[in-house]
Amino acid sequence: MSTHQNQDLPHPDSWKMFNSIAPRYDLLNRILSLGQDMRWRHSLKQFLPARDLSPKRGRSPFWGQVILDVATGTADVLITLLQDNTDIEKAYGIDPAFNMLEIGLKKLKVLKLEDTVTLLQADACHLPFPDESFDVVTISFGIRNVPDLRLALLEMYRVTKKGGEVLILEFSKPKNPLLKCGHWIYLQTMVPLVGFCFSGNLKAYSYLNKSIQAFPYGDLFCKILKQMGFINIKEHRLMGGIATIYAAQK
Ligand SMILES: C[S@@+](CC[C@H](N)C(=O)[O-])C[C@H]1O[C@@H](n2cnc3c(N)ncnc32)[C@H](O)[C@@H]1O
Repeated sequence: MSTHQNQDLPHPDSWKMFNSIAPRYDLLNRILSLGQDMRWRHSLKQFLPARDLSPKRGRSPFWGQVILDVATGTADVLITLLQDNTDIEKAYGIDPAFNMLEIGLKKLKVLKLEDTVTLLQADACHLPFPDESFDVVTISFGIRNVPDLRLALLEMYRVTKKGGEVLILEFSKPKNPLLKCGHWIYLQTMVPLVGFCFSGNLKAYSYLNKSIQAFPYGDLFCKILKQMGFINIKEHRLMGGIATIYAAQK
């Protein structure tokens, strides 16, 4: 049984769309979220565990975390998490969209983070890592785009260490009826219009709207996380529910 209301979503090759809008992706994120997207990614920091699950001798018990960011795109999550964080020893980002990764790598080089972060071209449904490799696995605005939601979650579960944390940041829908209505109008009109004006790609920004509408957010998503084996599932709504962070443990 599919977990999505719309059987056409997500598009199995949505990453190709991201490849084509890559040069404008960061700019459009800032414009369309009215500057909030970086703050939302920053909010992930409060859910990072302050511990290393396999501490190394002679180091602070908090040092040495290895993290993975799935659907990393232009690496904004990794850049945000690594800022002022001395606990992260190594970070990996995966995404099938090469053009997004290329922009991410340029940003990492400017910030001199290219030794700490490795970016790989890979699919969320087939993560190229052994079981129990990571203390923390994140995905931001990406789980909505993977062709098989459950398979991607199972893969994220598989590569997380026992006791490790999975953090999922994704768009959701506000509960307040007024905000919900304004949000719907904004998604239907401004997002495709502004997206088209800046990227020339109407399809990509109509897709954004449709994929947000179709995504199983809130309690339904928590239920899916539970079914996939996650425990201690927490839901943290941002800006009245426009986006949500789901924090769960293996
Ligand atoms: C909205 S962007 C999010 C990028 C980044 N995480 C961020 O916060 O800006 C969605 C990303 O999901 C990626 N994606 C699409 N299909 C994927 C898949 N099957 N596996 C992994 N990533 C995928 C796209 O290439 C794109 O970079």
